[in-house]
Amino acid sequence: MSRIFSGVQPTGDLHLGNYLGAIRNFVGLQDDFECLYCVVDLHAITVWQDPEKLAANTREVAAAFLAAGIDPTRSIMFNQSQVPAHAELAWIFNCVARVGWLNRMTQFKEKAGKHRENASVGLYVYPNLMAADILAYKATHVPVGEDQKQHLELTRDIAIKFNNDFDVEFLPVVEPLIFGEATRVMSLRDGSKKMSKSDPSDYSRINLTDGPDDIAQKIRKARTDADALPGPDALASDGRHVEAAHEKARPEAYNLLSIYAALAEQSMAVTLEQFEGAQFSSFKGELADLSVAKLGPIGEEMQRLMADPGHVDGILRDGAARANAIAEPVLREAHEIVGFLNP
Ligand code: AMP
Ligand code: TRP
Repeated sequence: MSRIFSGVQPTGDLHLGNYLGAIRNFVGLQDDFECLYCVVDLHAITVWQDPEKLAANTREVAAAFLAAGIDPTRSIMFNQSQVPAHAELAWIFNCVARVGWLNRMTQFKEKAGKHRENASVGLYVYPNLMAADILAYKATHVPVGEDQKQHLELTRDIAIKFNNDFDVEFLPVVEPLIFGEATRVMSLRDGSKKMSKSDPSDYSRINLTDGPDDIAQKIRKARTDADALPGPDALASDGRHVEAAHEKARPEAYNLLSIYAALAEQSMAVTLEQFEGAQFSSFKGELADLSVAKLGPIGEEMQRLMADPGHVDGILRDGAARANAIAEPVLREAHEIVGFLNP
């Protein structure tokens, strides 16, 4: 049986990349699978979070889930720190994963930067906690943006090593679900950098809570180049993806086109045909209108939900109880396999 798990960190300023790369994909999966969607507050504190803002940001991610269309009666929606199994299983995985594996993680290198000695130990073992999130539910499929691929490889390695070490067939080997036309949304200011919450420039990203004027202005100011828009010639031989060399030469142009394709829910091929030879000024007008039409209602619904924290907290509490009912027996079984005495 398939089970879906994914997580989003409550670190503030949810953006278009989070929506197109992850949250929007969560919604459709509800029709066919049992889904768990988690606000990963334990992961958030691997870098400093102001306690008051953390609570508000946790509610913001929950509001984004709901506003995007996650149905808390069909799916289980909760925050990580309310279910103790995540941290407990992560400890066992800290003893399964190898230092050499974690040393290869590019996200740690990026986030720790030059001050590696000063990074929290939590940031280093972050991928082990992520593996625990998923495997505490024996989830089989994980929808994420492209940047999480390496972490999911590690989750697979942990499951395989645990099963081998203890000679059991206990943990599933998970499959990443990376799909849609915008699995890696780039900064609006620099097409070589990923759109990110931590970029100091607010003009680099479209936040899900931005109003129509902000959205339109950010698109108008987005960096482009001097040429007219490319056409379907840019596609690779698969007819679906843009040829890497083309993308490298005009990263901003292809980023905006892929955002359009994703928001319009149409293929890149159709989008390239539609805008072949157009000037950026007219394309940006259409992209701004589409973005406002698609994102505006989500932002408004988020604002409405965030004004009622009691309602959101109730949904998270209920989700945590249901999540706990699944994770607790898995943790008990893990304890038995490892040789811990259960109460
Ligand atoms: P985070 O905010 O780091 O917890 O990310 C939550 C989800 O959004 C993950 O599945 C990420 O892969 C996805 N994501 C974050 N940034 C981007 C981006 N720029 N493009 C596509 N997906 C993204
Ligand atoms: N590391 C993910 C990110 O930054 C968030 C995350 C934590 C996650 N636990 C997870 C994603 C489990 C998928 C499954 O985007």
